[in-house]
This record gives sequence, structure tokens and C-alpha cells, in this order.
Amino acid sequence: MTSIFEGTLIRLRAREPEDAPLLYQWFNDPEVTEHLAMRYPLSMKSEREFVESVSSPGYAHAGFAVETLAESRLIGGVDLINIRPECRCASLGIAIGDKSFWDGGYGTDTMRTACHFGFAMMNLHRIELEVYANNERARHVYEKVGFVLEGCRRQALYKYGRYQDVLVMSLLEGELRLDHRP
Ligand SMILES: CC(C)(COP(=O)(O)OP(=O)(O)OC[C@H]1O[C@@H](n2cnc3c(N)ncnc32)[C@H](O)[C@@H]1OP(=O)(O)O)[C@@H](O)C(=O)NCCC(=O)NCCS
Repeated sequence: MTSIFEGTLIRLRAREPEDAPLLYQWFNDPEVTEHLAMRYPLSMKSEREFVESVSSPGYAHAGFAVETLAESRLIGGVDLINIRPECRCASLGIAIGDKSFWDGGYGTDTMRTACHFGFAMMNLHRIELEVYANNERARHVYEKVGFVLEGCRRQALYKYGRYQDVLVMSLLEGELRLDHRP
């Protein structure tokens, strides 16, 4: 039986204390954080505290480290958070922090695996996310796996000296595109 935690390229696992140094490196890299909410330098102390606080995935915060199937190499993270049980709704955040793995299909596979887990194991009905309007790569990935654009929070983001729109996208159960054809 195929593991629910595995896609074709990646595996989801719990975050471990040893992951903190790599996360510290990634989330202090302006190229990685350009399209993320982070804007201040991150200390190793706060990264260790973050990893400690999310190291036991559960219904309230289904947070995962993302590692390659090929070499079990840590390359990123994905989180289903802000769960609203009455509505069976969650918010999703993803970062492939290792830039050498960008554009290799790992983000797409992570999205498919995490959303499938959310629908099949957490009985979610709706997964939503926010994406900055100029994050073309992420928008393409989200659309590819089935997310639908449903709104625009006009000029909701101020970063790098200018305002930018923030797009709201969502995926309902049954809409996830698991096939790997373009
Ligand atoms: C966004 C992110 C998750 C995507 O993961 P990834 O592993 O790089 O994505 P994939 O390789 O699976 O897919 C990338 C797709 O975007 C396409 N793409 C790349 N740059 C693009 C651009 N500027 N415009 C449009 N599409 C683009 C690629 O061609 C590929 O599409 P294809 O498979 O149809 O050819 C990852 O790059 C990342 O974590 N970035 C930094 C943090 C971030 O932006 N997180 C999301 C916040 S909402």
C-alpha cells in the first residue's frame, strides 16, 4: 500500500529539532522569503522554538517537513493551519526552502500530497490559501493542482516599499488534480 505521506518525489514527515539550522538558513534568505509574510531577521532561538512548537502534527496544526523520496533530504515544509472544524476548512502554507529544488516538481508534489492528506485523513472540505500577486510560480502550481482564484485583497501587502495585491485561492474536496500530466 502506498503511504499517504508520500507523493512521487517527496515524503511528508514530522519536523525534528535537528531541522532547525536548515530552516534558520532558508528563512533568513531574502530570495526564499520574498513571497512569504516574513520580513524581520530570524534568530536561531526563535527557529528552534518554532520547530519545537510544531513538532507534533495534529488536527489543530498539521505541519510537516518535506523531504525527498530519493535521498530523504529536507527541502521544505507545508502546514495546514487555522482549522475551522464546523466548516471543515483549513489554510495552507508551503515553502520549498532549498532553492536548488525549485522548478523540479517538488512544490507541486508537496501540494498534492498535503491536500490529499487534508481531504482523506482530516476530513477537510475546503483548503484555502493566500498568494502574493507577483508570485507567478506559486500561482501556476496552485492552479495546476486545482486551486481556484476567488478573490483579491487589494494592496493588502506592503513590502519592499510598495503595495501589492494578495490573492485568495481555494480547493474543495473532489477538485484536487492528482494526475501528473501537464
Ligand atoms: C512556490 C513553490 C512552492 C513552488 O515549488 P516548486 O518546487 O518550485 O514548483 P514546481 O517545480 O512543482 O512547479 C513550478 C511550476 O511553475 C512554473 N514557473 C516557474 N516560474 C514561473 C513564472 N515566473 N511564471 C509562471 N510559471 C512559472 C514552472 O514552469 C513549473 O510549471 P510546470 O510544472 O507546469 O512546468 C516554491 O518555489 C517555493 O517554496 N518558493 C518560495 C516560497 C513561496 O513562494 N511559497 C509560496 C507562498 S504563497
